Amino acid sequence: MNQETHVVDAPPPGIAGDWTVAQDWQHYTPEEHATWDTLFARQAKLLPGRASNAWLRGLDVLKLSKPGIPDFAELSDRLMALTGWQVVAVPGLVPDDVFFDHMANRRFVAGNFIRRPDQLDYLQEPDVFHDVFGHVPMLADPVFADYLAAYGRGGQRALGLDALKYLGRLYWYTVEFGLIAEPEGLRIYGSGIVSSYAESRFALDDPSPNRIAFDIARVMRTDYRIDDFQQNYFVIPSFDELLRVTVESDFAPLYEALKAQPDISVGVVQSDDIVLSHGTQAHARRGAA
Ligand code: PHE
Ligand code: CO
Repeated sequence: MNQETHVVDAPPPGIAGDWTVAQDWQHYTPEEHATWDTLFARQAKLLPGRASNAWLRGLDVLKLSKPGIPDFAELSDRLMALTGWQVVAVPGLVPDDVFFDHMANRRFVAGNFIRRPDQLDYLQEPDVFHDVFGHVPMLADPVFADYLAAYGRGGQRALGLDALKYLGRLYWYTVEFGLIAEPEGLRIYGSGIVSSYAESRFALDDPSPNRIAFDIARVMRTDYRIDDFQQNYFVIPSFDELLRVTVESDFAPLYEALKAQPDISVGVVQSDDIVLSHGTQAHARRGAA
């Protein structure tokens, strides 16, 4: 196991075949709990009026405002009662088939380590703050909870159809970087945004990115950036609608059709897009933040 990056390619010795580890909650140091509290305070102040109602409700019903890194056992009890999901600890990124198996069975895999105090704003791997603060509140929403379990089953299917590239983009532009049109205005539900201080303002307020109505095939054709803010956000009308369109369409013929079509570059607007805001792309031209 590479201690620096937390990226591992076989279960390290002593780790279960499903890649889970004990969270080992009592081993977090006071400094690590303080890092959580710092990140939490900063985001919790920013997100009312920006995060979706579902995410804000999840934060509340799961009692995530309790100080310190959450104890996964306690969190899982609350989540289990609400939507049948659990949170399990893993040492870092796990192989795709392992990730999908957990997800299809309503187990959310979360990194158990927390970023260092000098990494508050940016981290390449998902740590416990991204995974728990970003993702877990959405799992308290019954519709989103069903969406993610269906995604896990879809992942197992996509592996066999050699279509992970396409399904992965659906995850990226919904679970990680999704926006939703709520009656009061655009709101964030993507975990990559809610767990980021800078992107939770950029995604809603900045004139640079395109904000485009969600369409499955469009999303699956679109490249994304992993090293900077997104240049496109896709906007869903509701979680019911996201669940309905993804569950009701058979992705196998869609994947086949997509394999014959070119990808769409980041930041490009297509003539058939329903565009909510056409970005200036000024941020992208300026280069990485
Ligand atoms: N409908 C998808 C398929 O046929 C499965 C899926 C459902 C994927 C919901 C993601 C989300 O493969
Ligand atoms: Co994530």
